[in-house]
Amino acid sequence: MWKSQYPMAEVVPVDFAMDSLRIKQVEQQISALRTSLICAFNQLLDLKDLNTGVHSTRLAEWSMRVGQELGFEEAELQNLEVAALLHDIGKVGIPDSILRKPSRLDEEEYALMKKHPEYGWAVLRMLPGFERGALDILHHHENFDGTGYPVGLKGTEIPPVSRIVSVIDAFDAMVSSRPYRKGLPYKEAIRRLVAASGSQFDPVAVKCFLSFAQGEVMTVFAAAGTPVSTSL
Ligand SMILES: [Fe+2]
Repeated sequence: MWKSQYPMAEVVPVDFAMDSLRIKQVEQQISALRTSLICAFNQLLDLKDLNTGVHSTRLAEWSMRVGQELGFEEAELQNLEVAALLHDIGKVGIPDSILRKPSRLDEEEYALMKKHPEYGWAVLRMLPGFERGALDILHHHENFDGTGYPVGLKGTEIPPVSRIVSVIDAFDAMVSSRPYRKGLPYKEAIRRLVAASGSQFDPVAVKCFLSFAQGEVMTVFAAAGTPVSTSL
């Protein structure tokens, strides 16, 4: 009786170990593929000059910290990373004449520019594992008071990841210099974030972001090669 059981006792653990190993290998491959896709899309943004260099990486890190401090689970943090890095991927579909226009956009141009969250969603939702991140990107220009786009979601109707990206993105846009305008001093950018807390921005996300960003923003400006004297 024990003879017939012995091979079973040997075989089952070995098969189980092999299965576990294969599952782990597949998980690692999927994770590597996911990272490669994020890097490839990020490079695409660089080619279109839609990244702000050091800022984008640091701001993605800040997004993740806000998510961690707000108790996001691992899967949600992964979506947050995607949304923080690739929220403007849809701008690839916006004509350069609009993206680089040195003056204010007219009504028609602005309407086209406002399509970029939908364009980004349309691309990323095709990729397995990026469906949720695509939705978070779709809503990154919603305002907390319901006046944003594309849907006009309000308060907690807006995905939490989108609410965080909205704050970080706005801060980045305010402090970054463009060919046609100089970035705002970071203290003024912070003042504007606070002023729009509760209307444009989720107050919790603003408070959480400012709790550590204020102390670190100088390092970011220094790392980006921006003279601190012009940033204050
Ligand atoms: Fe955007």
